[in-house]
Amino acid sequence: MPARPLDKPTRTDVENLRREIEEHNYRYYVLDQPTVADAEYDKMLRRLEEIEATWPEFRSPDSPTQRIGAAPAEGFRVVTRKFPMLSIENAMDEAEFRAWRERLIRAVGKAGETDFVAEPKMDGVAVEVRYEDGRLVEGSTRGDGINGEDVTANVRTIRAIPLRLIAPDKGLKPPKSLSVRGEVYMSIADFERINEKQMKAGDKIYANPRNTAAGSLKQIDPRVTAIRPLRFYAYGLATFAGTGLTSQWNMLEALKSWGFPVNPLSRRLDTPEEVVEFYNVLSETRAKLPYEIDGMVVKVNDIDVQAEAGMRSRSPRWAVAWKFAPQEARTKVLGIEVTVGRTGALTPLARLEPVRVGGVTISNATLHNADEIERKDVRVGDWVWVRRAGDVIPEIVGPITELRKGSLPKFKMPTTCPVCGTKAERLEGEAVTRCPNFACPVQVRGRLIHFASRSAMDIEGLGPSLVDQLVTSGLVETPADLYRLTLNDLVNLERMAEKSGQNVINAIQRSKKTTLARLIYALGIRNVGETVAEVLAEHFDSVEAFMDASEDDLSSIYGLGPIIAREIRAWTSVAANRKLVSDLVKAGVTVSSAPRATSNELAGKTFVFTGTLTKFTREAAEAEVKKRGGKIAGSVSKNTTYVVAGEKAGSKLEKAQKLGVDVIDEDAFLRMIKS
Ligand code: IVH
Repeated sequence: MPARPLDKPTRTDVENLRREIEEHNYRYYVLDQPTVADAEYDKMLRRLEEIEATWPEFRSPDSPTQRIGAAPAEGFRVVTRKFPMLSIENAMDEAEFRAWRERLIRAVGKAGETDFVAEPKMDGVAVEVRYEDGRLVEGSTRGDGINGEDVTANVRTIRAIPLRLIAPDKGLKPPKSLSVRGEVYMSIADFERINEKQMKAGDKIYANPRNTAAGSLKQIDPRVTAIRPLRFYAYGLATFAGTGLTSQWNMLEALKSWGFPVNPLSRRLDTPEEVVEFYNVLSETRAKLPYEIDGMVVKVNDIDVQAEAGMRSRSPRWAVAWKFAPQEARTKVLGIEVTVGRTGALTPLARLEPVRVGGVTISNATLHNADEIERKDVRVGDWVWVRRAGDVIPEIVGPITELRKGSLPKFKMPTTCPVCGTKAERLEGEAVTRCPNFACPVQVRGRLIHFASRSAMDIEGLGPSLVDQLVTSGLVETPADLYRLTLNDLVNLERMAEKSGQNVINAIQRSKKTTLARLIYALGIRNVGETVAEVLAEHFDSVEAFMDASEDDLSSIYGLGPIIAREIRAWTSVAANRKLVSDLVKAGVTVSSAPRATSNELAGKTFVFTGTLTKFTREAAEAEVKKRGGKIAGSVSKNTTYVVAGEKAGSKLEKAQKLGVDVIDEDAFLRMIKS
């Protein structure tokens, strides 16, 4: 029970307390500059709640206490508006954007050669919030434009939407009646948190932040909306009448001064060229934003020109939505296949009806493991949402259960390896189901392909199809067998001419001289990627020392966790693995220790090389960096200083651009090490 306040406050006291709370609310949710601790804010809010509970005469619908959500409504009332919420015409590329502007000029003549306001097109839910005498009286969804749903109780719970407007000292005051339009949205991080919760509770999974925002806004019980972290950006008015405003840009400024959040990425731009330039900037910024946008809205800045431009059927001529490539799409699951990796992991893979997402066509997506399928409950025959979010790898968000026809059988993980038929195992506490058969042909093949790969032993010409032939013909079983191959062995294989056979033999021989990091990585130990291999190589001076290291030795290495240490030791203790390593050494594989740094020019800088270099071998380039005290990493992260991109650079380059890591070409790299 809250303690009863000692004295009954005056109306002015209550009013002052409300103002203070609102001020903090505004600083927190709109300006993003709080000046008090959360606890302090909570205390004020609790005090106000106590007062309103004790003296009902002080209750008011625009009190900050109402943001916790009122009791559930029966359904949503219909709101009919005088100024319909319009749609916007889409432009899919620059030509369509330019065509839009041509039509504008045709409609209004020279006046169409005017300036623009460009705003991110928020991927959320459009709402209108109506104020009378500065107080929020109604919030509604777009509906069909004219008739929307009354979601006032829910809108009140959104902290970024002012319950009372600010009347600024300078500039225009808000008019007596004001209807503001904008987008209710949810951040990507909040979306992920909510979906996680929904999944755990066995509740509906949302496909994307927009659906989550819409679902949260349309809750019959406003108390549910209140705990959903909805946000808001204002971008328009139902009518400019009575405001004294003359441009879109001034309107955005006025909205800010009245207490609304306005997207800070909005720009006033003078020419179509500037619009194009900003579109390009925004497309690149897009992946880094904490919320989703699906395009850029371009609006004619001048209100008179807007009015003159008029309407096409359902959309005004003064605005255009220039879209980005969509990041998500709906498609059908044609089947779920189980693949076996080189470590024996059984991975379910969904075969999808091909669909374009984020500019590429995808026809399959990993479902990771049995738990993941169970959690998402994806079934063969389902319609699903697929998305390409921050990452390049597409993922299945979840099934669209409304579209599930009849009852589809649940997917069951096979109990035996689909390749060799060995009984599959799933260890206590592990998500992965594995084929324990070390001699399973896919594992044998997978280990060889990995061993020969570019980041490992880098044996050019030894790709999957040659490995297949070598394994099926019985010539090779372990990586050590590669070093016993003769030209004669190879030319007896299909489609292998003497010249290319010799090239492969040469590449195998060349690979004998390698680095410890490459060799350790090539062994294909579970969870030992390039980075971990580098860490290990810095610690040991020979492969023998690495093989003999105890679990304690390993876990004391800075940068290695106890779990990896245990896994490594488990691997190095297996007789077959010890034999593999000693066979490799016997076959002549030797490691050169990494070059010692001779200067510290590049100290503290981490380089990632990608693509084909033309002026160096990759080893030589890496050695140049190390000589100067720099570090080499195998994959791009936010800790990468430079990505050096050669020809045909692929996903690493993409990742670098996404993370905003500096990308330089080979020439720039050369200049860097010469200077
Ligand atoms: S202006 C006639 N500005 O896009 C112009 N719409 O209209 C009316 N949207 O669902 C809308 N961000 O909610 C405008 N900065 C922005 C926007 C925006 C997102 C949404 C809007 C509507 C859709 C198409």
